[in-house]
Amino acid sequence: IADVEEDIDHELVSKEQIDAKIHEMAALASEDYRDKNPLLVAVLKGAVNTLVAFTEAMSIPVQIDFMSLSSYGSGTVSSGEVTVRQDLSADVRGRHILIVEDIVDSGRTLAWLVAELKRRGAASVEVFALLSKPSRREVDVDVKYAGYEIPDEFVVGFGLDFDERYRNLDSIAVLKPSVYQGVQA
Ligand code: PRP
Ligand code: MN
Ligand code: MG
Repeated sequence: IADVEEDIDHELVSKEQIDAKIHEMAALASEDYRDKNPLLVAVLKGAVNTLVAFTEAMSIPVQIDFMSLSSYGSGTVSSGEVTVRQDLSADVRGRHILIVEDIVDSGRTLAWLVAELKRRGAASVEVFALLSKPSRREVDVDVKYAGYEIPDEFVVGFGLDFDERYRNLDSIAVLKPSVYQGVQA
């Protein structure tokens, strides 16, 4: 097994760029939610790194919760179906929710989650997504706090995985084609 760095073809978003964007968005959100006692909902597992960095960069006290959703399975193409692997522990009724996501691809995960939280009675639901692939969008999603737009390449790192691995890379990168060999989409 090679080190993570050896499997990278090229970097798309550096650690410094990630940090700068997260700080910029966290400052905006801190002002917007100052008097709203926000509940930040991170979408497991990909949003873990983003949630930690984002909440640390926020200047107001926030509550966090997690929901584990999957649309990808082990391939590189979304199945189009959202599966709840683990639900929230908090009651969202009357709460101002800020969803934290690593990436918007087809938009299906976020569209499903926004609708679900509203159905449960949230007072408001907004989204922070670190990355977006606009060219892949199938469902419209309103992302209030949008990070970087990236091309349609399969990316890993800062929480994003390929077949559950490479989440621990500290930047966003594209893997060498050889890494995918033998794995079906
Ligand atoms: C990835 C990513 C987003 C979602 C985006 O999660 O973290 O949650 O897909 O794709 P979409 O816009 O097409 O729905 P994944 O299903 O791979 O689960 P994971 O976060 O556990 O890796
Ligand atoms: Mn995810
Ligand atoms: Mg994934």
